[in-house]
Amino acid sequence: MDRLLEGKRALITGAAQGIGKGIAETFAKQGAVVLLAGRRLSALEEAACEIRKSGGRAECFAADVSKEEDVCRLVNDVTARHGGVDILVNNAGISKEMPLLEMPVQVFDEIMNTNMRSVMLMTKAVLPYMVEQKEGNIINIGSGAALRGLPGSVAYSASKAAVVCFTQALGDEIRRLESGIRVNAICPGPVDTEMFKKSERREFILQSGGDVFSTETVANGALFLASSMSGGMNSQILVLRGINRW
Ligand SMILES: NC(=O)c1ccc[n+]([C@@H]2O[C@H](COP(=O)([O-])OP(=O)(O)OC[C@H]3O[C@@H](n4cnc5c(N)ncnc54)[C@H](O)[C@@H]3O)[C@@H](O)[C@H]2O)c1
Repeated sequence: MDRLLEGKRALITGAAQGIGKGIAETFAKQGAVVLLAGRRLSALEEAACEIRKSGGRAECFAADVSKEEDVCRLVNDVTARHGGVDILVNNAGISKEMPLLEMPVQVFDEIMNTNMRSVMLMTKAVLPYMVEQKEGNIINIGSGAALRGLPGSVAYSASKAAVVCFTQALGDEIRRLESGIRVNAICPGPVDTEMFKKSERREFILQSGGDVFSTETVANGALFLASSMSGGMNSQILVLRGINRW
């Protein structure tokens, strides 16, 4: 079978570990040139090294995607080297669990800036290139928490719900331009990464029969959205959960 993303330039944020790394590995196996973005260059290089060892093409770019100047520099560097971006995966995110009553406003801002503002900044920076090439595919990583807010995670839940609405609104906006660009999101339930290992909800979810997905399953969902397998699908939310609760 032909590889599904042959020659596509895929920019993935938060790609040093977890879901972002899983998506980078899967996309590289399907022929994409993967452009890994994140805050720590050394961790990104380790992930890129593994991809290259398996025959994939990977490059790394240091950036804090919640900062406008970093995002501008990142997208300038990527487009200077590769001439554009075909697939953007807005994956970088953080979670800090605490009741609102105990949450400093700075923590709320940090979560919103990392999980939501970064999606807006990255998308706004990459979109003009996609509009010019009349092709592009944007995948935002939301969360099951976007669909039903989780206690102890008001900021996280609100940031991910914002990502979902951003995706739906932008997808419809872009369609009107007849630009050939598609914007979709994935809302996974618990996924076996550092983020979930640190979660205070982990034991409760496991004990009450919740499913924990592998990063590979989420990456397969991203591959579906990034490839022609989902041709025509736009403004939609792919929910990856085994139970309709968390
Ligand atoms: N693990 C889960 O259970 C789960 C479930 C649903 C959604 N998600 C979402 O999936 C995405 C990936 O999560 P994960 O589980 O792989 O987490 P993770 O903590 O393992 O990885 C997150 C990555 O994002 C990077 N990152 C964080 N802030 C950044 C910033 N400002 N700039 C650049 N990079 C930054 C981190 O350095 C890390 O490499 C997140 O958006 C998360 O909210 C995770």
